[in-house]
Amino acid sequence: MPGRTKAFVKSYGCQMNVYDAERMTDLLAGRGYGEAGSEDDADLVVLNTCHIREKATEKVYSELGRLARLKAERGAEGRDFRIVVAGCVAQAEGVEVLRRQRAVDLVIGPQSYHRLGELLTRAEAGERVAETDFAVAEKFQALRGAPIPRGVAAFVTAQEGCDKFCSFCVVPYTRGGEVSRPVAEIVAEAAALAAAGVREITIIGQNVNAYRGVAETGAPSSLPRLLERLSCIEGVTRLRYTTSHPIDMDQELIDAHASLPMLAPFVHLPVQSGSNRILKAMNRRHDADFYSDIVERLRAARPDIALSSDFIVGFPGETEADFEATLALVRETRFASSFSFKYSPRPGTPGAERDDQIAEAAKTERLAILQALLEEQRQAFNAATVGRTVEVLFEKPGRHEGQIAGKSPYMQAVHVTGGSELIGSLLPVTILAAGSNSLAGRIGGPMREAAL
Ligand code: SAH
Ligand code: SF4
Ligand code: F3S
Repeated sequence: MPGRTKAFVKSYGCQMNVYDAERMTDLLAGRGYGEAGSEDDADLVVLNTCHIREKATEKVYSELGRLARLKAERGAEGRDFRIVVAGCVAQAEGVEVLRRQRAVDLVIGPQSYHRLGELLTRAEAGERVAETDFAVAEKFQALRGAPIPRGVAAFVTAQEGCDKFCSFCVVPYTRGGEVSRPVAEIVAEAAALAAAGVREITIIGQNVNAYRGVAETGAPSSLPRLLERLSCIEGVTRLRYTTSHPIDMDQELIDAHASLPMLAPFVHLPVQSGSNRILKAMNRRHDADFYSDIVERLRAARPDIALSSDFIVGFPGETEADFEATLALVRETRFASSFSFKYSPRPGTPGAERDDQIAEAAKTERLAILQALLEEQRQAFNAATVGRTVEVLFEKPGRHEGQIAGKSPYMQAVHVTGGSELIGSLLPVTILAAGSNSLAGRIGGPMREAAL
């Protein structure tokens, strides 16, 4: 029966995991694995996991239970089925994953997955390995080959890890310290993607604006200088970067929004809370005014810029007054879109040790209030786009015949009447109507300045 063996890589969590999942798929392709559409037609499943909140971790074990049953069914048919656990849960729990779920063949952390092929060979020989080395520089070296592009927009990693140690967060433990990739490697990867048809590059990193990779001269570079280099690559028409920390948002980067037209006027800048007391307890190292000042300078540099953010409600010790301060910051800033979460105590982080945890009911109530406000702002932002002309990068056919779909600079989904030959083009589109999750427009119309 089946010809080619197939792998299914399922990813949870952040963009970094999406990027890693694609690289693992590329590595598996090099070993002869085709891409499976789901677990059901796969011979190998990689769960690329996320450890950020308790729910994310729990999901992994329930998913593994399901895969273990699938493996037993395959075994009964005399067929192989391998289960690999990668990502941040693999890093945080290591051999514990092998202990908790007997069906798992291999555990591989986010800083050692470049060794996936070699470790799979050992797994195929019957060994159960948990590899959680922090070998970031070695990984960057090993991944230097051109990635396989998967569309018009692609992620390119510039930086990994985090030295910030926010008191709620597991990332410094699961990804290790901040490491930047050399400029030449990033430029080579972006150029290879552009040559293969990629038009939009998003430079990613856990703290992307802390980027300090070495330039060809041997001197440390910066994110704005890297973006400028990337803007010269033939074929690249739009650049983005994510995720930024407020304390690394320097004037040089803010100025890049004025001097680099292809840099999308959209910044994801997590603030977490609007209360100075909570920001301090979170070890964020900035206060609410510092954040507002950055927003003001970004808007001065590029009047049509929009912002998105991440928020945590119910951090230990958060009072009603602290929560009100978060709402006040949101009202003052006005966000185009945001992510917001209930605080989830994570093992090994200082926040989890505190004895002033907030009751679940209060967290639920605060989250609902905050999300209602953020949703109102998102809808208002979308409505304000109607009548404007924005640049849309077309990525795929639309849901209806004769339509194509793409993204505005603000990550809004936009569809217009048009043929698939326009996929890959960045065109001015006049927005005609705003639905709850997408905008309708028509190609053309004068580009006009509109301050938001
Ligand atoms: N490096 C990025 C994002 C890290 S994780 C940054 O510094 O912003 C993405 C988001 O998950 C965070 O911004 C935060 O809002 C949320 N998060 C992290 N730890 C959390 C926790 N313990 N409970 C709830 N949300 C959390
Ligand atoms: Fe986590 Fe803070 Fe680092 Fe972001 S900056 S990854 S929230 S520790
Ligand atoms: Fe999750 Fe790890 Fe990203 S914990 S958010 S996958 S860095």
